[in-house]
Amino acid sequence: MEHHRLNIVTGATGYTGKYITRRLLAMGQQVNSLTGHLSRENPFGAQVAVLPFNFDNPKALAESLQGATTLYNTYWVRFSHGMVTFDDAVKNTKMLLAAARSAGVRKIVHISIANPDANSALPYYRGKGLLEQAVMDSGLSYAILRPTVIFGPEDILVNNIAWLLRTFPLFAIAGSGDYQIQPVFVEDVAELAVKVAEREENVVLDAVGPEIFTFNELAKLIAKHVKSRARIVQVPPRLALLLSRLVGYLMRDVVLMEEEVEGLVANLLVSSSTPTGWTQFSDWVERNGRTLGTRYSSELGRHYR
Ligand SMILES: NC(=O)c1ccc[n+]([C@@H]2O[C@H](COP(=O)([O-])OP(=O)(O)OC[C@H]3O[C@@H](n4cnc5c(N)ncnc54)[C@H](OP(=O)(O)O)[C@@H]3O)[C@@H](O)[C@H]2O)c1
Repeated sequence: MEHHRLNIVTGATGYTGKYITRRLLAMGQQVNSLTGHLSRENPFGAQVAVLPFNFDNPKALAESLQGATTLYNTYWVRFSHGMVTFDDAVKNTKMLLAAARSAGVRKIVHISIANPDANSALPYYRGKGLLEQAVMDSGLSYAILRPTVIFGPEDILVNNIAWLLRTFPLFAIAGSGDYQIQPVFVEDVAELAVKVAEREENVVLDAVGPEIFTFNELAKLIAKHVKSRARIVQVPPRLALLLSRLVGYLMRDVVLMEEEVEGLVANLLVSSSTPTGWTQFSDWVERNGRTLGTRYSSELGRHYR
């Protein structure tokens, strides 16, 4: 493997991109990052130059990718909000792909989602499906990783389930709760990402952990390890959404989107492929139960404030 080569990681000061960056640096490689948050604290200091996305300036965007061998793309939005819609995120990602091609980048490692579908009625999954096709058509060598829910210290979903279980006497599950979820550890996703970057051939791979839970089981497991005494109840999805909006109002955040519930209930957070991650969620939650969910993690706080 070549050392000292330059990689670009989008969101190295964010979540998954940070773990990918850490691995690349440990391997002796160079990393520059693209971000929308230039003023956020850079955990890598002078080791990683942080540059703006420049989605409104394709020439500057291509210049920031010049000399890079591999682009690790984590860029995406969880929901349409304010000035950034799913359509914008698709357009911006296509601009990033074109810039990578013109800058001579050899490989893209693109983080997608399990079960993407360009024809889905759910905009998250539709956008991801459209972008996978754009990656395949980009002329770049590619590796596409499709995670389910990524758990780890900075994760929002699992953390906030734990926070809700700690904070309120009741935890409402949308619908029957017997739909499935197959979480994957953020370190495993990062390791897979740097490994697939070395593959000569193009690859599309689900990034999924070794355990599958029903949502009911997941909530009970988290409740046990954070020592929650909340009553876990199944309620109609509309009521669960209404309650999540109330919590969102209190926390000035968006806790849960209707489309996310639809994706969950449709079993889109589970894969039919062989697991590619090895860290067991049940072990991790047991080891981290003391601190998990002690503070609320805000999606809007992270990306919009
Ligand atoms: N987290 C999960 O459970 C999960 C599950 C399945 C798939 N994925 C996929 O994995 C990738 C990484 O996810 P992550 O949770 O690790 O993301 P993240 O680090 O929070 O964000 C990844 C990148 O997207 C940018 N971004 C995110 N939301 C944005 C917004 N609203 N407006 C503008 N830019 C925004 C971030 O910008 P900044 O650099 O400015 O922060 C960052 O560069 C994404 O493609 C996601 O779809 C995540």
